Amino acid sequence: MAFLSDRLNRIKPSPTIAMTTRAAELRAQGRDIIGLSAGEPDFDTPAHIRDAAKAAIDAGHTRYTAVDGTPSLKRAIRDKFARENGLDYAPAQITVGTGGKQILFNALMATLDDGDEAIIPAPYWVSYPDMVLLAGGVPVIVECGLDQGFRLTPEALEAAITPRTKWLILNSPSNPSGAGYDRAAMQALTDVLLRHPQVWVLADDIYEHLVFDGFEFVTPAQVEPRLKDRILTMNGVSKAYAMTGWRIGYGAAPESLIKAMAKLQSQSTSNPCSISQYAAEAALTGPQDYIAESRAVFQRRRDLVVAGLNACPGIDCPTPQGAFYVYPSIAGLIGKTSAAGTVLTDDEAFANALLDEAGVAVVFGAAFGLSPHFRISYATSDEQLTEAVARIRRFCEGCN
Ligand SMILES: Cc1ncc(COP(=O)(O)O)c(C=O)c1O
Repeated sequence: MAFLSDRLNRIKPSPTIAMTTRAAELRAQGRDIIGLSAGEPDFDTPAHIRDAAKAAIDAGHTRYTAVDGTPSLKRAIRDKFARENGLDYAPAQITVGTGGKQILFNALMATLDDGDEAIIPAPYWVSYPDMVLLAGGVPVIVECGLDQGFRLTPEALEAAITPRTKWLILNSPSNPSGAGYDRAAMQALTDVLLRHPQVWVLADDIYEHLVFDGFEFVTPAQVEPRLKDRILTMNGVSKAYAMTGWRIGYGAAPESLIKAMAKLQSQSTSNPCSISQYAAEAALTGPQDYIAESRAVFQRRRDLVVAGLNACPGIDCPTPQGAFYVYPSIAGLIGKTSAAGTVLTDDEAFANALLDEAGVAVVFGAAFGLSPHFRISYATSDEQLTEAVARIRRFCEGCN
């Protein structure tokens, strides 16, 4: 009898974390590596949020809290949804977990039976399919290529729905493509969903605030209120307030689902870190200047990276609406040979050669379910990005 479970054997370690670890190992060996694989802002958490955490420790907020969030944090989240999204949720319809990641995990574990399907547009965030598999569900991957702006079309959604479909997982703006759904594109999808009452939507809004060129962020429950009772709106403080390490994410949904998710959490992690909850409350209720400031910096970096990559032979880099990623195509490089003699058979070979030969760590497209592409996270300094783009250009110019 095998010791490790079948459930575990269904999944793989996160490829983005694997690439970041490999880059760190090479750096430890003394190699000059620029890391563009990790998905986190390079800024410090704003001072008033750090101060709130210190005050929470000194005030003795160091004990267990209610399993899925303190009442005051839930009120702050309710107010956030009302203020920023025009959504009216009661505190009983809100749950707080250890990162947005736990919210997604709880929701899928609490709802998927063996064989239930979850539709996942590709390119997707690496964790969605594995979380679905862990829960016993079947990921139904729908490829959404560069020609359709990496967005799911209503026709493709309609075609993917079956009587076993339980969830559509929608992430706008997207990791890894940065593509965002405007109101019309979102409405086209919600129109389809209105016809299929068995399908719920998991709206991953974690990059809500990172939108550029005046792009209007919308979330499905706001666009189609008639769907609100089968939507889980998920969000968190990691990306919006440079708080990845604090581990606070939240979700809003009908109370029955929220209760089910809390039941699961009560038997796994219990409450998210008490101190982080106080910090998250300060983030949501305090000054919001950081959001606009970081957005301006990310937009400048996006422009720098898109222009630099489009000057590389063989790379085609569309301009994303949001997040802090670009997802260029390398169709023009597949089959070529690098200056050091590596045959670029696929995007994984490209990413490995780029790391070994040019010292730039990126994540290959197959990890996100759409090839031949690679993902760059531009959440690093302008100097590093300029140097990385120069190295990628030299690498591409050396291929033939
Ligand atoms: C699309 C997407 N959703 C959710 C998360 C989870 O973020 P956290 O668990 O830090 O809230 C991430 C983090 O990389 C992400 O990229």
